[in-house]
Amino acid sequence: MNQGHLFLPASEGLRGTVEVPGDKSISHRSILFGAVSDGPVVVNGFLESADTLATVDAVRALGVSVEFVGSGHVVVHGVRWEGLREPEDVIDVRNAGTLMRLLPGLVAASPFLTVLRGDESIRRRPMSRVLRPLEAMGARVWGRKGNTLPPVGIMGGPLRGCEHHLAVASAQVKSCLLLAGLRASGTTLVVEPGVSRDHTERLLLSGGARLQRTAEPDGSVHITVEPMEALGLREIMVPGDLSSAAFLIVAALIVPGSAITVQKVGLNPTRTGLLAVLDRMGARLAVSVYDDAAPEPTGSIQAEYRSLSATDVTPEEVPLLIDELPLWALAAAQASGTSRLRGAAELRVKESDRLAAVTEALRALGVTVTEYDDGLDIVGRPGVWTGAAIRARGDHRVAMLGATAGLASSEGVHVDDVECIDVSFPGFADTMEVLSSPGGDR
Ligand code: S3P
Repeated sequence: MNQGHLFLPASEGLRGTVEVPGDKSISHRSILFGAVSDGPVVVNGFLESADTLATVDAVRALGVSVEFVGSGHVVVHGVRWEGLREPEDVIDVRNAGTLMRLLPGLVAASPFLTVLRGDESIRRRPMSRVLRPLEAMGARVWGRKGNTLPPVGIMGGPLRGCEHHLAVASAQVKSCLLLAGLRASGTTLVVEPGVSRDHTERLLLSGGARLQRTAEPDGSVHITVEPMEALGLREIMVPGDLSSAAFLIVAALIVPGSAITVQKVGLNPTRTGLLAVLDRMGARLAVSVYDDAAPEPTGSIQAEYRSLSATDVTPEEVPLLIDELPLWALAAAQASGTSRLRGAAELRVKESDRLAAVTEALRALGVTVTEYDDGLDIVGRPGVWTGAAIRARGDHRVAMLGATAGLASSEGVHVDDVECIDVSFPGFADTMEVLSSPGGDR
């Protein structure tokens, strides 16, 4: 049974300094890339959430041992690609889209059958974008509805390097094909039409992969990889997840009296699109980077309440804040003027149809929203919302959007499913409580 919760107003604002759990994207990659390294890989700051634990179970099913040695500290005993074994059963990725997209690439050259299933949301996620190019490289693939939907099967085998031109900028698709490319003969080229998060490239480079990434004048990104036997990762530091911090930051921006700091958070420039957009809206944000040279730049963000003004999010910006767009819509609902989002059709195939979910949630709050195939128009109305009942649709980010709206309301917002928040931000309600309770960490 899913549990509902009423998120109450933070009538005195949010105040204090907090850290957020580890980055979900980097945590998934640490386990997957650690599995094909040539020995133990120590992961610090690992996110222990429903999604990333599905990835741990998946590599265990492939014969890799993973040890939890303390909170956020994990050792992955890498076995190189050669050491991966055929799973005895179907692998259940549960709600983890990143696992569903990356794992087929990891096993595409392994001479055995891997079958992947997932929950109701996963069964609606398009898979031909990874299955078709893997087939072109030489893997045999199966999927429901003509190889387009999960469950999927991959029978690995000898792969040849290919050129892949992606229809949309997608870090998941890019990562899948780069992983397969590391085990293909010759060079594999992936061309993305725009910039998407580059955690895979950074980690593969630090694991010794021969990878080259060039940004072209037309905005596209070309990435090549050459074959290798095993990655040489030793230690991975996972920063706090900016996508989780984003909820605290937006809450502080829209709840009067707020001033918060989030520390040790990832500031990879391919993830900070929300900060740039909020800056245009007049947000009071101070960002400081601790170490720019580290594989993943990390730092702190201070956010204070301030009235916001509308802005448009352009199609080129979309991949840089893809997971924060529902939350941006909430900030836009509190900004003066009409904000427009276009080029975001990908939001329809995330954990839920996020354009529909956001439209429904904002309308429940009394906000005027027009929904388009690939975006939204949001008529901002600064001021306190009364309250609402919001349907999370099993989507962690929609549930946290509802919670954030509740803090800025006068009577609270009821969210019908809060268990799904554990997919990315275990401890979310406690963190919000600390920031919003008088006498908390101030
Ligand atoms: C992710 C990439 C994004 C994002 C998802 C995580 C990743 O998807 O929405 O939550 O870890 O690679 P796409 O870039 O594939 O759209």
